[in-house]
Amino acid sequence: MARPTLHTRLCDILDIEYPVILAGMGGVATAELVAAVSEAGGLGIVGAASMPPDEIERQVRRIRDLTSKPFGVDVLLPSGVAAPQGDGAAKADGDAPPQPPQRSPREMLPEQYRRFIDSAEQEFGLPRRAAQEEMSQGIRRGFGGNFSKSQVDAILELKVPVFAAGLGNPGPYADAFHAQGAKVIGLVGNVKNARRIADAGTDVVVAQGTEAGGHTGRIGTLALLPQVIDAVAPTPVAAAGGIGDGRGIAAALAAGADGVWVGTAFLVSREASWPQLLKDRILAATEEDTRVTRLYSGKTMRNINNPLIEYWESQKLDALPMGMQGIISGEIMAAARQADKLELVMNPAGQISGMLHESRPAKEIFEAMVTEAAQILSEGLRARVNASVS
Ligand SMILES: Cc1cc2nc3c(=O)[nH]c(=O)nc-3n(C[C@H](O)[C@H](O)[C@H](O)COP(=O)(O)O)c2cc1C
Repeated sequence: MARPTLHTRLCDILDIEYPVILAGMGGVATAELVAAVSEAGGLGIVGAASMPPDEIERQVRRIRDLTSKPFGVDVLLPSGVAAPQGDGAAKADGDAPPQPPQRSPREMLPEQYRRFIDSAEQEFGLPRRAAQEEMSQGIRRGFGGNFSKSQVDAILELKVPVFAAGLGNPGPYADAFHAQGAKVIGLVGNVKNARRIADAGTDVVVAQGTEAGGHTGRIGTLALLPQVIDAVAPTPVAAAGGIGDGRGIAAALAAGADGVWVGTAFLVSREASWPQLLKDRILAATEEDTRVTRLYSGKTMRNINNPLIEYWESQKLDALPMGMQGIISGEIMAAARQADKLELVMNPAGQISGMLHESRPAKEIFEAMVTEAAQILSEGLRARVNASVS
């Protein structure tokens, strides 16, 4: 079959064949998956959320071994980011971080949250406090200085073609990236943030609806998308949240998007780098099996529901800020891994999970999506819908 054509201005901006971007999913979208999507004609994006600079460098080198096509790296920025200074090195003032904790992470938590960890470990028969030392190192690194600044510095240094921020405003870094010919993408869940990041120089705004897996907002994709498009015009907008096949791509383009940013549909690809059990839970899920919770990160995150989420929600505790909440979930998850109870660990996934039934190579998933979208937009719609304006 001939190679389908599906082209928008986003393809020209990002130098790609098809307007389909692999979402930068932390720890899951790594070199093999990124390269597979870029090779297929889209834009693969590394989910570098918790990767230190040396790991980002390793990923980028591996991608460059696998493909010569454009790709990107995605990080999570803290709120409040200042413009780069001097030689263009990026500086994030929201990074003015707490000093590395002298006490163990668990000791930093208020008493009621320490009690919650104890009670959850008891409830699920987990090894008590077994994970503390393992967690301490991760938490210390997270608190230990300008983590996201060091990530952005590394991405600049590596001359990555596309920089993306899944949280926060990437605008203050835009000049530094533009100076080296790179593009900047930012993700939003509401119109206010869309305006903010577009005004700050972001090249592509991703409007992410609540259907999405991972951190997500409250507005549905179909309601959010046209409002963001109108608010940031002429800045290009990609749609995200609930797009899992060619019908979703066609719908997003019909609604005015310049492209799509797809996460969950690639989570079940062969190249996605996370345990098979987590993929299997997505493959087995229905559209009703996800739940938004603050348990894992302190921010609203859509996950495959599990008994630990139910238990957290039943306790009616307020979530702590991001790093502190991560201590709670991190300790419990480390204990769950130790006890081989992976069903309790974080398993972010979107509502489109109910439509995913098999694990395939990313190239196949990608080609099926693009071909279906091109078919719908070239002939399929006309065959089903009789419309005219005269
Ligand atoms: C497992 C997983 C991890 C994610 N990690 C990140 C992340 O680190 N940074 C980010 O910008 N978005 C992250 N997201 C959100 C995705 O970038 C994307 O917006 C979302 O998956 C799109 O909706 P969909 O899942 O319905 O395709 C994650 C999503 C999932 C499912």
